[in-house]
Amino acid sequence: MDTSADSLHKLVQETLTKVQEFINPRLESALTFSDQAAPRLVEAMQYALLAPGKRLRPALALEAARTCGGTWEQAAPAALAVEMIHAYSLVHDDLPAMDDDDLRRGRPTCHRAFDEATAILCGDALQPLAFQVLASGMPMDVVPEACRVLAQAAGVESLVGGQVDDLAAERGWVPDLSDQTPEQQVEWMERIHRRKTGRLFLASLDLGCLAAGGNAQCRGDLKDYGESFGLAFQIADDLLDAEGSESSMGKRVGKDAERGKITFPTVIGKELSRKRADALSEQATAAISGYGHAAESLSALARWIVSRQT
Ligand code: IPE
Ligand code: IPE
Ligand code: MG
Ligand code: MG
Ligand code: MG
Repeated sequence: MDTSADSLHKLVQETLTKVQEFINPRLESALTFSDQAAPRLVEAMQYALLAPGKRLRPALALEAARTCGGTWEQAAPAALAVEMIHAYSLVHDDLPAMDDDDLRRGRPTCHRAFDEATAILCGDALQPLAFQVLASGMPMDVVPEACRVLAQAAGVESLVGGQVDDLAAERGWVPDLSDQTPEQQVEWMERIHRRKTGRLFLASLDLGCLAAGGNAQCRGDLKDYGESFGLAFQIADDLLDAEGSESSMGKRVGKDAERGKITFPTVIGKELSRKRADALSEQATAAISGYGHAAESLSALARWIVSRQT
């Protein structure tokens, strides 16, 4: 690894460590309930939510707030809420009915550690909790907009819709995509990636901005950043599934090909996929170049996601 790549990785690791130190105790506190909560359910929620994830979505929410002139403290509820939606989506994504994975964040998946019904209910419980956190922690005047933003990102036209189409090709719910041109297949994949992964990144940034009272210009620039960031992130995830290592990813690799999933590397090859991810990472950085020091971490994260190993 050359020195500039080395220093980028170091810088991002420092940022993510600070984000983790900030957000992890707050995630833990958010899982404090009365005796009305079933202990097994709470245990599963703790298992899924407090597992050692990168906390990328909280990082985007917190750093978006800073880019808009605000503080991490203001964006804490936003950061908690997006991580809850993310954690639920991973628990459900890993279920036997979906990707059927047994390793997540270096540990047995939630349904493996508990059982399928508990994992489904754990995901079900994390979702409303995210909205509860937003409704009780965001500034009163932006609560309706914040709830709308998160609901839209998690819903039928976004995360869930993207997950359905992600399964559609391998399950035969849509006509065989191999008859389509590579351009049409790329368009199909981008549509999936933007919804299943991209929209929650966009919501993380937008909620951070809302929490900090950011103006329309800042909200728009972060949207441009997030569009490119999200797609670059998922192309990198597909590449890492094809060539990354299980020990650094903390999840099984090589599963996309095994399942016959249509991914960027399978359609346009690894080299072109890497080029596309790099170009998107540059576009993301360019979108926030006017914010100088305040957006330094966001810029570093966008450059890092395409060269990460985790
Ligand atoms: C994994 O997301 C799921 C995808 C959207 C591809 P991350 O790579 O951010 O997972 P964690 O949070 O670090 O475990
Ligand atoms: C997961 O995509 C996206 C969501 C959980 C919404 P993947 O299925 O590619 O994620 P990994 O590779 O299992 O983390
Ligand atoms: Mg999946
Ligand atoms: Mg998966
Ligand atoms: Mg994947």
